[in-house]
Amino acid sequence: MKSLENVSVIGGGLMGSGIAQVLAESGKTVTLVDLSNEVLEQARERIRSSLERKSVKGIIALEELPSILNRITTSDNLDDIKNSQLVIEAVPEDIELKKKVFKQLDHIVNKEAILASNTSGLSIAAIGASTSRPEKVIGMHFFYPAPLMNLVEVIPSIVTSDETYETAKLLVSELNKNAVTCKDYPGFLVNRMLVPMINEAIFCVMEGATPEDVDDSMKYGANHRMGPITLADYVGLDVLLATMEGLYEGFGDSKYRPAPLLKKLVESGNLGRKTGKGFYDYNEDYQSVQKKGASVS
Ligand code: NAI
Repeated sequence: MKSLENVSVIGGGLMGSGIAQVLAESGKTVTLVDLSNEVLEQARERIRSSLERKSVKGIIALEELPSILNRITTSDNLDDIKNSQLVIEAVPEDIELKKKVFKQLDHIVNKEAILASNTSGLSIAAIGASTSRPEKVIGMHFFYPAPLMNLVEVIPSIVTSDETYETAKLLVSELNKNAVTCKDYPGFLVNRMLVPMINEAIFCVMEGATPEDVDDSMKYGANHRMGPITLADYVGLDVLLATMEGLYEGFGDSKYRPAPLLKKLVESGNLGRKTGKGFYDYNEDYQSVQKKGASVS
């Protein structure tokens, strides 16, 4: 097990840019790869403003910003990462796309390198099987926003080597984050528990409880910082539905049946905060959809 200095991230979207940032903050040399330079420029801007916010809060020193940014190189060419010791993939959650990217990485990146996926719940074994080095493939699931969230789920598949697993865990500790080890089953640990809880809250709304009462129940009765319905709107109802469907399909257990109301809202295009409306209406002083008499069942 050794500390890795030269790390790459594939996908410069919300997660990839955040992961590149935390790697650079910890002193790693990072190459961030995406399909176009325009996306990479946006990623660099996102990283710069996140670092500035952290410095205003006193989390990092202002003088450190230039050197952190200098440790991140961006590229639209996978050939530029052939000498990486570890690659973290953060392209969209689509198993065929992930397999394609891992196959490319397997051809290009040196044979000793570890290939990690930031998937929220796809099978690490299936992703690893698209490479010639499944023992070097592992899940490293960061949470949004990566520069602030202190957990990383580490997911070895049934064929991941101990050395790969120990190296991934060492990296998480170097990032000053907490690692939890998960089995390679849908939802890993956090989403496996959190998303069915939110789904159950949606069943309660479907059966007639108000979103506000469901939220207050968990805020004041269970000390949750945010109610499950507010959290659903925050995460995105399409993302929640996809996760529930993954659990339902993966385990074949009726306890993971997505709430019909969740499906209805997704079908209607009301996906939560990102579309301005979900269970609550973010355009009109946070009135809930149900309170306004819109169909919720
Ligand atoms: P995103 O859509 O913001 O970013 C994905 C990026 O990948 C885009 O910039 C896209 O141009 C790029 N991309 C697509 N194909 C590519 C390729 N072949 N080569 C290089 N770049 C490519 O997606 P986001 O939200 O960052 O999610 C990425 C992964 O992280 C997904 O697996 C998701 O499930 C996981 N995740 C997402 C979280 C979230 O809250 N958004 C939280 C934790 C994990």
